[in-house]
Amino acid sequence: MSEAAQEQRFWLRDNFAPVFEETTATDLTVTGHIPEALNGRLLRNGANPQTGESAHWFLGNGMLHGVEIKEGQANWYRNRYVKSPLFRDPAGDPVSAMSDMTRSAANTHVIHHAGKILALEEAHWPFEVDDNLETVGPYNFDGKLAANMTAHPKTCGETGELLSFGYATQAPYLTYHRTSADGKMVQVEPITVKGATMVHDFNITRNHVIFMDLPAVWNLDGMAATGMPIMWDESYGARLGVMPREGGDADVKWYEIDPCYVFHPMNAWEEGDRIYIDVCRMNDTFKPGSNSPPLLFRWTIDQAAGTVTETQLDDRAVEFPRVCDTKVGLKNRYGYAAAFMGGLPCAEGYVKYDHERGTSVYHDLHGGQGSEAVFVKDPAGSAEDDGWVLGYVYQPETDTSEVVIIDAREFAQGPVARIHLPVRVPAGFHGNWVPADY
Ligand SMILES: [Fe+2]
Repeated sequence: MSEAAQEQRFWLRDNFAPVFEETTATDLTVTGHIPEALNGRLLRNGANPQTGESAHWFLGNGMLHGVEIKEGQANWYRNRYVKSPLFRDPAGDPVSAMSDMTRSAANTHVIHHAGKILALEEAHWPFEVDDNLETVGPYNFDGKLAANMTAHPKTCGETGELLSFGYATQAPYLTYHRTSADGKMVQVEPITVKGATMVHDFNITRNHVIFMDLPAVWNLDGMAATGMPIMWDESYGARLGVMPREGGDADVKWYEIDPCYVFHPMNAWEEGDRIYIDVCRMNDTFKPGSNSPPLLFRWTIDQAAGTVTETQLDDRAVEFPRVCDTKVGLKNRYGYAAAFMGGLPCAEGYVKYDHERGTSVYHDLHGGQGSEAVFVKDPAGSAEDDGWVLGYVYQPETDTSEVVIIDAREFAQGPVARIHLPVRVPAGFHGNWVPADY
């Protein structure tokens, strides 16, 4: 790694630094009033290198953080490492660890599907954990999942199907998976692309999936330059692949777009021949010397005309975009994202977008440092934004974290409740609300 890259190892400093203790705290102080309708757990995953060292932010061992909320009370906070073979035996380099599907860092996301809670990282199998965040073991969908799975599968807001993919360094470079709402992987489909790229996330609509084949290309030279075996290579080109959800490789229609990188889309939906995808778009990634901010763009794919148009929706740097779970793959009015005007991936605030009106509302964290926030629908509500936005926020002055609960309808107001944790939750990646009756 170059000297400049070493100096930029932000992921080992401040609130990115790992915590080593596994804590269980049941006596949590709450400011404000926790809505009685919230009944479940707010889980969040992140890289927390057990040795205190890692070559890249993306490589540390997964640590899950959770707060259980029930009947207006915060019952507990827990943090637990995901105890995969990589945790039990951390020796070895990340590239060779890719051939063993159980050697997962399991550090990127945590989802629930068909009665299971799964910690995910894109180069390996999912890892199942229990209600108390204790590791159960690797999960490969009863042997149907031979290779790795993305950390960003999509649960259809309408059918509950789980749609996912895996990418590889050898052909087939991309493989599509479709899993029924009751957890049976019913389709595994190789998809033809030109080469090995890092495909972090993808998109679903009511009838289609859309792959993003973007020029973050597998390249071992990247280890020295960026800490990851990935390098920006614009000559690879960039394209979106639209496929019917139950289709195969021959059905994919590819659309060329301007080179860019998207870690995370906010949502996608279709209307007639058109597919709309809202994304946090960067000009590049894994390009030494470049630090391209993620900006909210809309891609409109006109399948009849064979074109893609790009429209910028905001000029603020935002990431970790989310929508209501029941709107995933369907037209959403509202979206939520973390605002990163300061550069580093710890948020100074959250933005609520109203795509119908083309407006947004800012929630200022007033010095707190946010991470991905999750919208939780009010079961008694009727409007799309009837609910709360929950996130882990670090408070530098106390060196501890809290869970904030923001009324989504009154988004600019202070939180309706703050659950104070006795420890800090390091800045991490993704999380989810897991309802008690998952
Ligand atoms: Fe991600």
